[in-house]
Parts: sequence; structure tokens; C-alpha cells
Amino acid sequence: MMRKTVLRVGSTMVLCLGLTASSAIATELPGIPPETVTDYIHAVIESGRTFYTIHVVERMQKQGGSPAAENWRTEKKTLPLPAQFLAEASDLASKTGTKVRYRLISLWPINPHNGPDGESEKKGLEAVREHPERSATSSLKIGDQTYFKAIYADRAVSQSCVGCHNTHPHSPKKDFKLDDVMGGLVIEIPLGE
Ligand code: HEC
Repeated sequence: MMRKTVLRVGSTMVLCLGLTASSAIATELPGIPPETVTDYIHAVIESGRTFYTIHVVERMQKQGGSPAAENWRTEKKTLPLPAQFLAEASDLASKTGTKVRYRLISLWPINPHNGPDGESEKKGLEAVREHPERSATSSLKIGDQTYFKAIYADRAVSQSCVGCHNTHPHSPKKDFKLDDVMGGLVIEIPLGE
């Protein structure tokens, strides 16, 4: 059945025929800038990452309990590393069909796959190291789709970040300090429809 709804959005009167209220509002309101969208996504990812590191990984370590280890899937009584927690969550998110992608990179990666992918990511990492309060943004094209990319500073929020990286045999940097920018969180979202 055709529904007729009158909505007031700001000062504009909108007449919708057979539209749901939410889609009517979405077409009438101005879009959210992509950098604001990635700021929202970043806030959610970072709070989960910080909570997991401090209240699970570090807590267990202090209590002499399960350590975080790379081979957590096969090794009993171990926890996923904070970086693995993030990568696994990102994989699960992409399985839902969403085109949001995120990953950790660094100028001093333990895993060489996590180095910057090209000059633009390298510059982005240098920029967030210098100005950790703001993201480094760019856009890229994959096939016909344009993506907005934002890199956020990834900080040593806990002594466990510093301790593990400084002592890891594959870490090219051994003098991280608490609160240092250890790398960057890359978030990519598709632009347009
Ligand atoms: C128990 C050890 C451990 C802890 C704790 C830890 N990391 Fe890592 N981190 C690793 C390992 C190992 C990798 C590589 C994982 C992989 O193979 O992708 C990694 C990956 C990373 C990367 C991607 C670049 C790279 O080095 O490969 C960043 C950035 C990073 N960690 C930052 C942090 C921050 C910030 C914290 C604290 C919030 C933290 N790590 C806690 C061991 C650790």
C-alpha cells in the first residue's frame, strides 16, 4: 500500500510517497564528510584495541596468566596479540559485505607485511608521527571504486606494547617508550554509492 508521510527536516517540508522515514531523511540531510566517518570508525576501533590491551593482555601478564602469543590458535593457554585481535575483527567485518577495511602498519614493522604500501602510506606514517592529533588522508582508486583513506597514529598506550615490541626478535626498533607513535591504523571507506 502506498503510504503518504509528511516529514519536517530542519525547516524543509518533505513529502514522501511510499518511502520509509529513514530513507527520506537520508536523502534530505547533507552527507557526512568522509573524514568524519573515519573519525567515528577510528574512535570505536581504538577504544576496543586499548581496552583489550590494557584490561586483557596486560592484566593477564601482570597476574602471571596467559600471555599473548603469535601462535595463539594452536598454542593452548595463550591470547591473540592486540594486532591479531584487530586483524581478525577486520576480516570478520569484511565478511559481512561491508567495504570498510582497516589494518595496522608501521615504519618499524615486526611483520614485514605491515610496512607502508608505497610512498603515500610512508608519508602518512611520517605525518602522524609528527602530528599524532590529526589523521593523514588521501584517496585511491581500486577498479571503478574510489576509496577514502585515513591513517591515524597508533600509540603505545600500555607498557605491554613497548615491552613486547622492544624485546621481539623481529622488531627493527628496540627503544619504544610509553605514548610513542608506534605505527598507524589505516582505515579505508568507499566513496559514493
Ligand atoms: C605480546 C606482544 C605484543 C604486544 C603486547 C603488542 N604487540 Fe604490536 N605486534 C606484535 C607482533 C608480533 C606484531 C606482528 C603481527 C603480525 O604478524 O601481523 C605486532 C604488530 C603491530 C603493529 C603493525 C606493525 C608491525 O610491527 O608488524 C603495530 C603498529 C603494533 N603492533 C603496535 C602495537 C601497540 C600500539 C601495542 C599496544 C596497544 C602493541 N602493538 C602490543 C607484538 C605485540
